[in-house]
Amino acid sequence: MRSPAIKPSWPVSHHQTPPSIGKFPLGILAEYQRDPLKLYMRAMLEYRDLVRMRFGPSYSYVVFHPDYVQHILVDNRKNFQRNKLRNGLFKVVTGENLFTSDGDFWLRQRRLLQPAFHRQRIFGFGQLITNCAAQMLAAWDQYPSGARLDVDQEMMRVTLRTVGLALFSTDLTANSSEIGHVITKSSAYFTYRLTHLLAPPLWVPTPRNREFKRLQASVGHRVPELIATRKRLIAEQGDAENAGRPVDMIDLLLNTRYEDTGEAMDDEQMGREIRIFIGAGHETTSNTLSWTLYLLSQHPEVEAKLQAEVDQVLAQRTPTMEDISQLPYMRKVLEESMRLYPAAWAISRQSINEDQLGPYYLPADASVILPIYAVHHHSDFWENPEQFDPERFAPERAAQQHRFAYFPFGGGPRQCIGNTFAMTEAHLILAMIVQRYKLRLQPGIKIEPMPLITLRIKGGLPMTLERR
Ligand code: HEM
Repeated sequence: MRSPAIKPSWPVSHHQTPPSIGKFPLGILAEYQRDPLKLYMRAMLEYRDLVRMRFGPSYSYVVFHPDYVQHILVDNRKNFQRNKLRNGLFKVVTGENLFTSDGDFWLRQRRLLQPAFHRQRIFGFGQLITNCAAQMLAAWDQYPSGARLDVDQEMMRVTLRTVGLALFSTDLTANSSEIGHVITKSSAYFTYRLTHLLAPPLWVPTPRNREFKRLQASVGHRVPELIATRKRLIAEQGDAENAGRPVDMIDLLLNTRYEDTGEAMDDEQMGREIRIFIGAGHETTSNTLSWTLYLLSQHPEVEAKLQAEVDQVLAQRTPTMEDISQLPYMRKVLEESMRLYPAAWAISRQSINEDQLGPYYLPADASVILPIYAVHHHSDFWENPEQFDPERFAPERAAQQHRFAYFPFGGGPRQCIGNTFAMTEAHLILAMIVQRYKLRLQPGIKIEPMPLITLRIKGGLPMTLERR
């Protein structure tokens, strides 16, 4: 194991070009398209720190060493902006917002939005989350023990419902929800575009692009409508507290003010932010829960320990926000699950000026990939990286870990703004499932990761429902 505290010992005065893979003209495009996770793992095992990959006409610098991750996300972060190719696609759909912007615009939005995601605010969503989980479990209770359940779909539904209700008090999973339908379809479109790097851009009128644009147009008016309706309601009845209705994210956003001007965000900008919160906020948490339930089914000793903790802290009652800090083993289980299967499996940047990563030269305007999945499985930084061992996250062991060998929520100032929301949601939902059920993988099912926009389970997660 490499010592995390030691800085690179290589001479930093003369630049080297990193090792490269992929030959002109297409490079490793086909291998990437087949399985990007396998490609990054293969490259990490061979090159350890950094490799330059040819994707068609250009190179991407794929970074495995946590020191370089730290350099990019924290130490020299001003030299890195969002990746043009990936970001461009999100920007076309959601516009300029916290996720897609850079520089002063991003900073102003981040400062404005941060308080709405503060721990104290998230506290207010606890009951909403447990209500959503209770509704899901009430449906499970109707099935006979031993019934088959598509757990990945159940998790998608419960997290979409939670995020819709928390954001704008709307159930996006209702049959009539056109937004829910469009999210599912759009996710498939994004995945196609990100895995088919040579696919025609959105402005080319292919059937797939036209269908995607039609879907977007069909719901384009919904978020502005929701904001307008809320403003009317507030004008008629006063704010949520006065009217006695639960405070949601729209209420919070309507009340925030920019530091510099003291003004509120305009409705259009609010719409752009809400779109990205829906997009970023449900599939990630849903996959984290599915992977955790899969891992528990494969590790009965971990499952038993978790059940014992949940039973001891909660007995039969519904968990509250205060209970979360009393469930330290659950936190370790979730953290280890996000190490093995990070929902955001890679993030990317673009260098602004030329730079240096250890001994290696990084040109200006270079595409940089931080493959979170591969770094989380790096045997120079993790002992037995493939083993599911929640005790790695025991405070004494975690303290010895390189800070950037583990970054499921990114790092530095652009760290995920929704991380507390996501972890809260994951704890509460998992606690309620573990309290009542054991889920077992259906016989004959082989589980493999499927790296789409988020890290899904290939073929889904069919499980057998066993009441405890
Ligand atoms: C397990 C669940 C989640 C995971 C693994 C996750 C992961 C991430 C990661 C890795 C980033 C950094 C991206 C980068 O640096 O390029 C990020 C950013 C972001 N996430 Fe999350 N996320 C989760 C849940 C959420 C939720 C629930 C929300 C909102 C409701 C959210 C909203 C955002 C936004 C807006 C950003 C951009 C922040 C910025 O650039 O300032 N995420 N997320």
